[in-house]
Amino acid sequence: MASILIVEDESKMRRLLEMNLTDQGFETHSAADAEAGLKILNSAKIDLVVTDFKLPGMNGIEFLQAIKRANATMPVVVMTAYGSVESAVEAMKLGASDYLLKPFSLAEMVLVVRKELDARHLREENRDLREALGRRYEYSNVIAGSQKMQEVLALVERVAPTNSTVLLGGESGVGKDLIARAIHEHSSRATGPFLKINSTAIPENLLESELFGYEKGAFSGATSSKPGKFELADKGTLFLDEIGDVPPSIQVKLLRVIQEREFERLGGTKTLKVDVRLIAATNRDLRAALEEGTFRQDLYYRLNVVAIDIPPLREHKEDIPALADFFIQRFAASSTKKITGISPDAIESLMQFHWPGNVRELENVLERSITFAAGPLLTAADIRLDRPAHPANAVPVLPEGMTLDQWEQEIIREALRRANGNKSQAARALGLSRNALRYRLSQMGVADSESSSNPNERA
Ligand SMILES: Nc1ncnc2c1ncn2[C@@H]1O[C@H](COP(=O)(O)OP(=O)(O)OP(=O)(O)O)[C@@H](O)[C@H]1O
Ligand SMILES: [Mg+2]
Repeated sequence: MASILIVEDESKMRRLLEMNLTDQGFETHSAADAEAGLKILNSAKIDLVVTDFKLPGMNGIEFLQAIKRANATMPVVVMTAYGSVESAVEAMKLGASDYLLKPFSLAEMVLVVRKELDARHLREENRDLREALGRRYEYSNVIAGSQKMQEVLALVERVAPTNSTVLLGGESGVGKDLIARAIHEHSSRATGPFLKINSTAIPENLLESELFGYEKGAFSGATSSKPGKFELADKGTLFLDEIGDVPPSIQVKLLRVIQEREFERLGGTKTLKVDVRLIAATNRDLRAALEEGTFRQDLYYRLNVVAIDIPPLREHKEDIPALADFFIQRFAASSTKKITGISPDAIESLMQFHWPGNVRELENVLERSITFAAGPLLTAADIRLDRPAHPANAVPVLPEGMTLDQWEQEIIREALRRANGNKSQAARALGLSRNALRYRLSQMGVADSESSSNPNERA
């Protein structure tokens, strides 16, 4: 039985949390202030701490720091009032595992607690397993020799056989698609379908019918009925790519499918039940979207049952030589050009680069370099990077007399102009979700017109 320490000065709230967590089968300890909390931490076995941010005496930040000094791996969930998101962000920076914005529902609280306990359990189990066996995780198609990538595969190994929803995070090109497939292939659903849907690539009105299907006559043009991805993925896995781009109207519907595992086709009356495992991916910080209010918190918690963050390539450069060999062999198999290997100085120049486009960029650079290579050995002279390596001291500065906000607005306007007013395209160029761009435009006082393909529309 996991044991939870609750630190909350309001006695009513404290009782409520206690009762609820006890009902859920947890052992609880509680304290009204940080000092009393630390005493309990020193005398009882505690697996997780839920603490209020505003406490009398020692405040939440100091308390968090004290806990982390004593036990760096203790999961700490911080409760903070709406409107003080900054303090939640500060807490996360100092090592809090998650936060709850008050008022939150008890169900939400239990979800967060379970998620953190599961994550802790997984971490410990992985460590034990690997220490016991001295084992390295190996997946065909996935190069993962580095410690960071081994940690990713360790998580994949643990979650694959479960039915848990997985949220994959990581910059563009880090391998989210690849890992989503690996999870499917190592699950009991491996013989079932693996389907993917990318919400950025599909217009809002089509996205809904793609996901849920439609009945004949549901809208003009629906001359026959069609099943959606949820139906087609029955007994398999559905991969929701770019989840941060799903518009609010569809977020509500997704939430229902996840909670009830049921839905109706567009224009349909029959309720359909499906058995689908969900994997979602995002290349942005969904937390930022939560704070901006463009992504539903309840949906976020449902998706974020197990989070796997794939590191950018610049954080596991040790994998570059093996990745280079892997891609060279792959191209050799499919092309007439006979490349036998890569020289040490070529590897060296690959190691020097910062790889903003991650593994995908490395793959593309190698393909291009091979195409133009002079001899059978790929040398430094053959390597064609997409852009010059950044000089380390080239920090961009703001133009004279401009504030950061004004500069951001300029950049947004410029992106819209280049995209001829198309917001989806501009959002992509800016590395923002459509919703995040909409939010920023509304802050700038630019009216939101959903179908903004009008080339004359200017911010
Ligand atoms: N660890 C790896 N080992 C081998 N190949 C990899 C690895 N990581 C990524 N790749 C390859 O790099 C390319 C990009 O990976 P992938 O499409 O999975 O990235 P992504 O994170 O989904 O990108 P995006 O955010 O743009 O959708 C693919 O061809 C993939 O097979
Ligand atoms: Mg992808």
